[in-house]
Amino acid sequence: MSSIKTLGQFIIEKQADFPYAKGELSRLLRDIGIAAKIVHREVNKAGLVDILGDHGNQNVFGESQKKLDVYADEQFISALKSGGECCFVASEEHEEGVVLVDEGISKNAKYIVCIDPLDGSSNIEVNVSVGTIFSIYRRKSEVGHKVTEEDFLQRGVEQVAAGYIIYGSSTMLVYTTGKGVNGFTLDPSIGEFCLSHPNMKIPSSGKIYSINEGNYVKFPQGIKQFIKYCQEEDKATNRPYTSRYIGSMVADIHRNLLLGGVFIYPQTSAQPNGKLRLMYECNPIAFIVEQAGGKATTGTERILDIKPKELHQRVPAIIGSTEMVDKVLEFLK
Ligand code: AHG
Ligand code: MN
Ligand code: MN
Ligand code: MN
Repeated sequence: MSSIKTLGQFIIEKQADFPYAKGELSRLLRDIGIAAKIVHREVNKAGLVDILGDHGNQNVFGESQKKLDVYADEQFISALKSGGECCFVASEEHEEGVVLVDEGISKNAKYIVCIDPLDGSSNIEVNVSVGTIFSIYRRKSEVGHKVTEEDFLQRGVEQVAAGYIIYGSSTMLVYTTGKGVNGFTLDPSIGEFCLSHPNMKIPSSGKIYSINEGNYVKFPQGIKQFIKYCQEEDKATNRPYTSRYIGSMVADIHRNLLLGGVFIYPQTSAQPNGKLRLMYECNPIAFIVEQAGGKATTGTERILDIKPKELHQRVPAIIGSTEMVDKVLEFLK
């Protein structure tokens, strides 16, 4: 029988890879793992108890917050608070972000976390996979001082770790610290994430394209042409491709990471920067996909190179298998 490796064991084993003081980032990842288990528990009983439906508030994007958006946000922030390694959290659900260091809890905290606590929250009521996305940076300012814009508006290339949790038919945590990507499946019977997908690699090409075609008339010409290309028949290139779109970025990316494919949320005539958020959706996913051998671009530049202007900035996203992303770029030229 092969032995089980838990997330906690794996993080400790891999500490040597971390560029900075080993214990802190390990603890931060562990805290995120704990909050993930709590959210998993709640997501799993979503149909049973009174946690579905609207919370009654709107977030900064004018999206009506679901109760689980708020619940997940609270769980992750409280785990980060009690861990003491994080000084600032940028969350989809908080306009200004949350300064933890000011509360005196994490005076020496050196890390910034950007988080989408519940991704795909409109899917929760129909029992479709949702997720959490997180991104971790090292703060630039000295500990003991105020957290500055320079701390939380860093380029994606400066991430020290990033990951997602998918609450799917099973719950998985996938993360990178810049040395490849590893996936862990939650075994609910022992309450541990166990290494199930070591060294994940995205196929260089695939058959799946994932895009909300309902917005077709608003797409740039190049995207329309790429969709046509996917639908055409051609034996040599294995076309037509297959269209798959869940509407939870995490789930769409996770499937394409395993099977090969391209996920696109382009700019539209209605949304010139697309819909997805740079700091807690596109950057962490781009880091993971690149670490798995794939590619992530806005159509004009590498996502990880963007210098962020604001916490809740949106960017167009074309993410996935390298050859497919390159094909999209050809059409956009
Ligand atoms: P969130 O639930 O965190 O607000 O994110 C929703 C995002 C993302 O998960 C998904 O890829 C996208 O919205 C789907 O948008 P459309 O419904 O416009 O296709
Ligand atoms: Mn939302
Ligand atoms: Mn999201
Ligand atoms: Mn969300």
